[in-house]
Amino acid sequence: MAAPTPPSTLPAQVSPPDFALSSLRPHAIAGVEAVAVPVLPGGHDDPVLLGPGGAELADDLRTDLLALVELSDGTGKAGEVVSLPVPQGSPANPELRWVHLVGVGDQGLGDFRRAGAALARAVRNRTSVASSVAAVAPEGGLEAFVVGAMLGSFGFHLRSGAPEHTPVERVVLAAVPDSPEIADELERAVAVGGAGWRARTLATVPSNIKDPGWLADQAVDLAEETGLEVRVRGVEQLAREGFGGIVAVGQASDSPPCLIELDYAPAKGARRAPRVVLVGKGITFDTGGLSIKPAEAMVNMKRDMTGGAVVLAAMGALAAVGCPVRVTGLVAAAENAVSGNAVRPGDVVRHYGGRTSEVNNTDAEGRLVLADALAYAVDELDPAVIVDVATLTGAMKVALGQQVGGYFANDERLAQVLRSAGERSGEPVWRFPLAADYEEKLRSEVADADNAPGGPGAITAALFLQHFVGGVPWAHLDVASVGDAPEDSHEWTKGPTGFGARLLLSWLGGPAPLEGIGR
Ligand code: BES
Ligand code: MN
Ligand code: ZN
Repeated sequence: MAAPTPPSTLPAQVSPPDFALSSLRPHAIAGVEAVAVPVLPGGHDDPVLLGPGGAELADDLRTDLLALVELSDGTGKAGEVVSLPVPQGSPANPELRWVHLVGVGDQGLGDFRRAGAALARAVRNRTSVASSVAAVAPEGGLEAFVVGAMLGSFGFHLRSGAPEHTPVERVVLAAVPDSPEIADELERAVAVGGAGWRARTLATVPSNIKDPGWLADQAVDLAEETGLEVRVRGVEQLAREGFGGIVAVGQASDSPPCLIELDYAPAKGARRAPRVVLVGKGITFDTGGLSIKPAEAMVNMKRDMTGGAVVLAAMGALAAVGCPVRVTGLVAAAENAVSGNAVRPGDVVRHYGGRTSEVNNTDAEGRLVLADALAYAVDELDPAVIVDVATLTGAMKVALGQQVGGYFANDERLAQVLRSAGERSGEPVWRFPLAADYEEKLRSEVADADNAPGGPGAITAALFLQHFVGGVPWAHLDVASVGDAPEDSHEWTKGPTGFGARLLLSWLGGPAPLEGIGR
């Protein structure tokens, strides 16, 4: 008899599609099961136009594809797909079974991301598609299309049988020049899409599998795979070195907390390169602790380590996007559980470096673990910039809904570059003020701060954290709003999103990510 499967093992998961480049037009690519051609807004005579290969395909199939789009009320808007089954194949490709006409709308980056995601959904469970959609893309549009196609294909399952859907296995980007520049853009796109996929996977794994130790194992595997340095501090060492916030938050759980540290150095000029520190909230489950959450509020709390997942995933892709600065990733991992040994309301914890917090609400645990990591970064890592990512406050979700992330920054240039990285990568963020007027809310009768200072909740949480970064240029991304997608939409799939990895890579993968920061 086979040994029983331990509950901590995941069944085989689906993978994102493989991508290849071809200078041929899609109709001429032999053996693919589907072809896709972009639909562009037309001029005076034709309401819509077909992109590269459309005319040849129409000839091959003896079908008026433009009339087909119009008949289907197609407008060419981004993300729209008109599909035609081709049971007999085409003369050039007897294997062909489907033609997809994919709207690219105004042809901005977001339109190509949407087109990629829409095509991915149209071709799931198929083997291969050749698409000329990216051939009409502006600069950066091929990356957007590939990222959209990858993330729109995302899947994760723990079913006893097969997964519900499988992503298309192979996407040929057709009618694009087979140049080294395009090959580089594709490599970068696959790295960025892969980071989004990884962050989403980590956030989706349930918490009977995903405890702090499991997260640390993922970091160790990632480091091995991508050539990063890794170090994990266990609970004894954390206690010894004064990480009182992480220890307190993790003390009720049977799975001890840890601090994960990953290091990236660029291939060139590493010794002189300044260092960015990324800090992720790694709460592998948030019950609220003794200030326990109501049942409905606890449902999604397996993803309270999204910030940590984002940091791990971004770290793993830095080399592939050519990040020119050193980066250290810290993930403060703990399970916020309930037990006789839980941290109590009114307890005072001493953070790394000595600052104290009165824990008036054990559900405000994220800031307690982040505080230690931020203080440690400032004291020990000589950071030029710190960025933390956390599903920190329900208040941010109330303010922004589920489509835009919130952030704070103490440096104007950093604020600017993160905003545009978010915009460009499809992970938009809106800035909130570190309004000093609310500082007095942090006052505690017995400690340096109260961890539950009341509303405005997202702002007072950011002010709490600000005390731990000294004068270092810093930004705080509160992704509680966007950590979970309510439904499938464009590149988002229902459930945990892993929001933030693309934004960080868009920023850190630029030629001079730190230029102008800290002046
Ligand atoms: N993990 C939650 C924040 C959260 C809420 C994330 C909803 C995603 C969706 C965080 O630890 C928390 O519980 N925050 C409290 C803080 C309060 C007790 C000061 C909150 O926002 O209610
Ligand atoms: Mn909480
Ligand atoms: Zn939390």
